[in-house]
Amino acid sequence: MALDLDPGLTAVGNPRLVRAIVEEMAGGAIPFERFMELALYHPEFGYYRKPGRIGPQGDFLTSPAISPMFGWAVGAWCRDQWERMGRPSPFAIIEPGAGQGMLATAILDWAEGRADGFREAIRYVAFEANAPGSDPRVEWATPPMKPVAHGVVITNELFDAFPVRLFEASARGPVEIYVRWDGERFVEARGGVTTIDNAPVEGRFEVNPRAYPVMRSLCGLVETGSVLVFDYGYPQDELWAPWRTTGTLLCFYRHTSNEDPYQHVGEQDITTHVNLSELAAAAEGEGFEVFGPVKQSEFLFALGLPGLVEAARSDLQEYFARRRALEQLTDGAGLGRVRALAASRNVAGPPAGFEPEGAR
Ligand SMILES: C[S@@+](CC[C@H](N)C(=O)[O-])C[C@H]1O[C@@H](n2cnc3c(N)ncnc32)[C@H](O)[C@@H]1O
Repeated sequence: MALDLDPGLTAVGNPRLVRAIVEEMAGGAIPFERFMELALYHPEFGYYRKPGRIGPQGDFLTSPAISPMFGWAVGAWCRDQWERMGRPSPFAIIEPGAGQGMLATAILDWAEGRADGFREAIRYVAFEANAPGSDPRVEWATPPMKPVAHGVVITNELFDAFPVRLFEASARGPVEIYVRWDGERFVEARGGVTTIDNAPVEGRFEVNPRAYPVMRSLCGLVETGSVLVFDYGYPQDELWAPWRTTGTLLCFYRHTSNEDPYQHVGEQDITTHVNLSELAAAAEGEGFEVFGPVKQSEFLFALGLPGLVEAARSDLQEYFARRRALEQLTDGAGLGRVRALAASRNVAGPPAGFEPEGAR
């Protein structure tokens, strides 16, 4: 006897999340931004509520998940900043969106290996609302945090995980995309026409409303110090270039990308490229000097990452592991495309990795 095998809501994603979103829609439509917020951050069933999303067993890889070498390089960068600030103690390293703390652990391990007072000076503070890590050397804190006298703020793929407003250009101006439930699946609806300065006149594009205020608040965390951001993104003129007619929204499910946020709802990552001009303007608004953006590959090469590969020559297994990691971290078609942007207040000179080419 054949049975009714229709999986119902499970065909669309996590059924409990799908039901919660449909209930919130109450027969109407919600802005795409709210849909993305619920898909990623619903208090119970959102994608990021569950640990293990990042890494070989998850859906995608970030630089800290590739190898601790990334964190060692960032650790050396933080130490250079600490020296430029006159070796203050305490020296805060603040990491919003730290995930399960892979970058924190690599930075702290690297610092443990030094005998120059750097490790003793560090106060490592991480913000992560979802499935945070457990490294006991890290203070897992909840914002707001009081500004520190000296420190650095580091983010890796934080801004590209923020919910975005989605627009479609029309002859009358940008039209906002909404999402509704048609009884079987999520489908798009169109809102009213709006006005956005310099917006594309063709195709789709995204606006990330939280990026600017969050960048400003991160700059406000350090009185003397720097902010170092790693994220997929472009300056606005490239992000909204006339030829980019499909926007930058991408989803990741089991290490395969797709452009459909209405499938695997709550079980796949949704991400967009960041408007780096907005981050730069936010930092400047807080009185910071901005450096970059540069490609992550350029940043890591300028810091001397290949030296860490050569240093492992006597241990072939380690040597090949590091060589492979270097390739992945600087891959022009992958993580090497991530951009690094730095901003400093009261710290001398361009930070390491951001010097003009001739000066390196
Ligand atoms: C793409 S993951 C990157 C995680 C980690 N930085 C890494 O590189 O592996 C984005 C992280 O940012 C966190 N996140 C998103 N919005 C946040 C916010 N407003 N404050 C703190 N963390 C946030 C998410 O929960 C998620 O863990």
